[in-house]
This record gives sequence, C-alpha cells and structure tokens, in this order.
Amino acid sequence: MAEFNHDTVTPYDQVEIDKKTQVTSMFDKIAPYYDFLNRLLTLGIDQRWRKKAIKALDTREYDKILDIATGTADLAVALKKRLKVDKVIGLDISSNMIELASKKVDKMGLEDHVSVEVGDSENLRFDDESFDGATASFGIRNFQNLNKGLSEICRVLRPGGKIMILEFSKPTIFPFKQLFNLYFKYVLPVIGRITSKDPKAYQYLYESVQAFPDYDQMKKILEDIGFKNIKYTPLTLGICTIYLGEK
Ligand SMILES: C[S@@+](CC[C@H](N)C(=O)[O-])C[C@H]1O[C@@H](n2cnc3c(N)ncnc32)[C@H](O)[C@@H]1O
Repeated sequence: MAEFNHDTVTPYDQVEIDKKTQVTSMFDKIAPYYDFLNRLLTLGIDQRWRKKAIKALDTREYDKILDIATGTADLAVALKKRLKVDKVIGLDISSNMIELASKKVDKMGLEDHVSVEVGDSENLRFDDESFDGATASFGIRNFQNLNKGLSEICRVLRPGGKIMILEFSKPTIFPFKQLFNLYFKYVLPVIGRITSKDPKAYQYLYESVQAFPDYDQMKKILEDIGFKNIKYTPLTLGICTIYLGEK
C-alpha cells in the first residue's frame, strides 16, 4: 500500500509532541478567527470552492453524510442546503471549532438535520458501512496518519458510497505558480500571524500543502485503501483540488 507520512510537518515543530496534539491545539487557538481569515485570505473564494465540491457530489439523494474535520461547519451546513440529504454529521478534533460549528448550525435553524461533535477522524466511533457519503474540506492534510484517517472513512462508508475531498494543491502554471507561491509563502503567513495571533499557524499551512501528495500519489493512496473511480478536478489554476471517489 502507498504510505504517505507527512507527520513530521507539524504546526509548532515540537518533536516531543505528536502532530495530532499540535494540530488540535493550533485549531483550538485560531478558531475564533478562522472564518474571518478564510474569507479574507481567499477573498471569499473558499465558499465558491465548497459549492463546487458539493456540486461534484451530484444530485442523487443521500441518507447520511459524514463531514470529516468539519471545523466551523461551513461545508456541513452547505451540504444540507445544497444537496438532498437527510442527515449530516460533522466531526472535528478541536472542541473550540465544534463549539463555533454548533452555534452556526443553531443560528441557521439546521439542528434537526446537521449535528456536530468532537472526534478523531483516525478513530471513528461509527459502525461499518453506516454512511452513504463522506466529505472533507481542507482537513485531511492535517491528519497525523493520512492512510489511517482515509481507511476509517472507507470503513464507515457503504459499498457504492461517495467520498469527496477538497484539499489545497500546488499550482503548476507559469507565472501563476510563482506569484501564488510568493503570496502563499510570504504574504499570507504575515496577515495570518497578525490576525489570528498564532505566529505559526499560517506558516504551517504553507508547509503542510508543500508536503501533501500530488494528484497521482493521492489517487494511488485512495485506490490502495479501497476507493475506486477516483477523479480529480483542480480549481482556480490548481490552488485546490476536488477528489471524488466511490467505495
Ligand atoms: C483547515 S480546517 C478545515 C475546516 C473545514 N472543513 C473547512 O472547510 O473550513 C481543518 C480542520 O481539521 C481538523 N482536524 C485535524 N485533524 C483531525 C482529526 N484527526 N480528526 C478530526 N478533525 C481533525 C482541525 O481541527 C480543523 O478544524
């Protein structure tokens, strides 16, 4: 099986503390600023990416979708609003993110159809084959063990169930690649540092994207785990990519 271990790329470079603990503490810290910074740093394009990703899941009806690494539930609530789905469960390892997610769900009056909870994607509490869809936007890059997290998603999906992953990728087209790299490596971490009050969070964002598998590696990892019909669609000249597959 293609193993991909990027657990050496961590938010705070503390060798004695594992990636999962560092990631949890980072997202707990930046949670209050997370939505604001997403809109600011992407000029609002992040919500368009989520809409496109949901559209890629097509118009079939879903009974239950698990939104992994749901954060403040932007994707989870959009799934309920844009797809025919009865129940969306959003799960995240950061309790501060989940607190904000829960407030968002209540504010939108979606609590009968969207629930959120604290949990680890690498160790899911759900039964085998209990979901017909699973999604993750900008989350899997942060897993301590990518293969384990994806294997758990595969386990809880029904045969034929769909997986949709939206994740940052690396633009390849000149000169956009070079310009975007300047912004991503130097400008964004400075804005992030000032606004989120975490000196490392947005530097980690750049580093974790550089360490993430490229399209073909990612396809191979997903296939080895048990997914099939994998397709990928780069968005905005490759800043991020939608991966779609099926169990
Ligand atoms: C960049 S945020 C993405 C949030 C949301 N999906 C979005 O589109 O804005 C990444 C999220 O992944 C969560 N996360 C990282 N590792 C996780 C794990 N092992 N299990 C569950 N959530 C995890 C973090 O706590 C964080 O909220």
